[in-house]
Amino acid sequence: MTRHEALARIREIVGPAGVVDDPLEQAGYLIDERRLYQGAAALVVRPASTDEVSAVLAVCHEAGLAVVPQGGNTGYCGGATPDDADGQVLLSLTRLNRIREVDPVGFTLTVEAGVVLARAQAAAAEHELLFPLSMGSEGSCQVGGNLATNAGGLAVLKYGTARELVLGLEVVLPDGRVLHGLKGLRKDNTGYDLKQLFMGAEGTLGVITAAVLKLFPAPTERQTAWLAVADAAAACRLLGAARKASGDAVTSFEYVTRPSLALVLSRIDGTSDPLDSPYEHYVLMEMSAAGAEGSLREIMEQVLEDGMARGEVLDGAIAESGPQRDALWKLRESIPEAEKHVGGAVKHDVSVLISRIPEYLALAPARVQAVTDCRLSIYGHIGDGNLHYNLLPPADSDPEAFRAHWGAALSRAVHGLAAELDGSFSAEHGVGKLKKDELARLSDPVELEVMRAVKTALDPRGIMNPGKLFQA
Ligand code: FAD
Ligand code: MLT
Ligand code: ZN
Repeated sequence: MTRHEALARIREIVGPAGVVDDPLEQAGYLIDERRLYQGAAALVVRPASTDEVSAVLAVCHEAGLAVVPQGGNTGYCGGATPDDADGQVLLSLTRLNRIREVDPVGFTLTVEAGVVLARAQAAAAEHELLFPLSMGSEGSCQVGGNLATNAGGLAVLKYGTARELVLGLEVVLPDGRVLHGLKGLRKDNTGYDLKQLFMGAEGTLGVITAAVLKLFPAPTERQTAWLAVADAAAACRLLGAARKASGDAVTSFEYVTRPSLALVLSRIDGTSDPLDSPYEHYVLMEMSAAGAEGSLREIMEQVLEDGMARGEVLDGAIAESGPQRDALWKLRESIPEAEKHVGGAVKHDVSVLISRIPEYLALAPARVQAVTDCRLSIYGHIGDGNLHYNLLPPADSDPEAFRAHWGAALSRAVHGLAAELDGSFSAEHGVGKLKKDELARLSDPVELEVMRAVKTALDPRGIMNPGKLFQA
């Protein structure tokens, strides 16, 4: 089949509603969230069912046409952007947006890949249940994209990353065959756990079309505190103490440094410092529980009192209402947007053991300053050992020129230190195009060989998202 015939056949499969031809509308599919990559596409298609995805992939496989899956296009590593050669098919999952089933007995939710994360959360909430995956992009990112990137977010400490929230997966393989894995069993030891291969694969092994997700009882009580802490080591000790004292009710434990908070306060409307004096290190701690109301407040107060007595907590404010809770979360969740307001950061999402966070933070400034002068915006999911070690240009210099000139060298320094401390250079945002050289540089060679073997076994013609994850 020629390329021309293949594209015509794909148009027939999805029908006029499934093709985006308008150049203005196409534009949004061809550039990534961070405006780092501009692509082109032979065709932008939006199939409406698993059968259509399967038929499209079968044609692409036969014709040797590359396929780039795309969810909400909020990813940070350029994974959902085609290359600029005009030869790849951009396959958007947006129209696969049905909530197939909520099972309030088995606590599961079956959704198609294009369901926006906030909608999946809302579908669970209608049954007084919780789908706990949560992040700043939840109004746009899609469940399929979350699973393909094994997203983390704001409640990993308690509920795990995206892959830990999945009981079953439906996947279209590169040749169009469908892996029907939507049984949703809690126990199933019948050989390899194949679904795990596709989560975190960033669309390089197949297209996720639907998933059975785990639900939990919706919390009936939440206590949220904004705390000034002595330093990161104090924060880590406080986390352990809070987990023990609360019967592991700590759902989120986010670290924010003063420069990141200052950026939010100066750039984001409607924000204010919850504390009277400025401090260098903050933690946003949230506890939540489903059950009798009232008990968590006492626990939170006791944890803070004990933390103060040990010198870990210097000051703090506990939210007294829903709006106050939202205001505290806004301070944390607005950091990426505030960074955008000053031209964007050189972003990182490294992880190390929680116990090694202070070591990372002590060593990293010298490593980056050895590359070039820069400002630090450090925050992240410290309860998961995950730091966003973001770097901004010195005041008054051009952010774009700074990124172009220094970005790669700075990232090598930040990633290299994580690797030295036995950590990960990419804890939650994935690899995509942006970090594929780092995967080659920092991964164990045996690990890389096994990954390549899996890729070759499942996608022998190399049509799934080429140029992502692997160098070639
Ligand atoms: P896309 O960007 O469309 O795609 C991402 C990758 O997955 C690409 O490689 C694509 O090819 C592949 N893909 C998408 N859908 C499928 C599918 N159905 N089948 C196979 N492959 C597919 N991430 C976090 O982990 N934690 C955070 O806290 C977090 N916060 C964020 C805050 C903001 C403000 C923003 C803008 C982003 C944030 N992100 C965060 C990054 C991003 O939102 C996540 O990576 C998200 O999981 C991407 O989902 P998406 O639907 O937008 O995927
Ligand atoms: C977050 O935790 O806010 C994101 O993962 C980091 C970012 O958007 O830079
Ligand atoms: Zn994050």
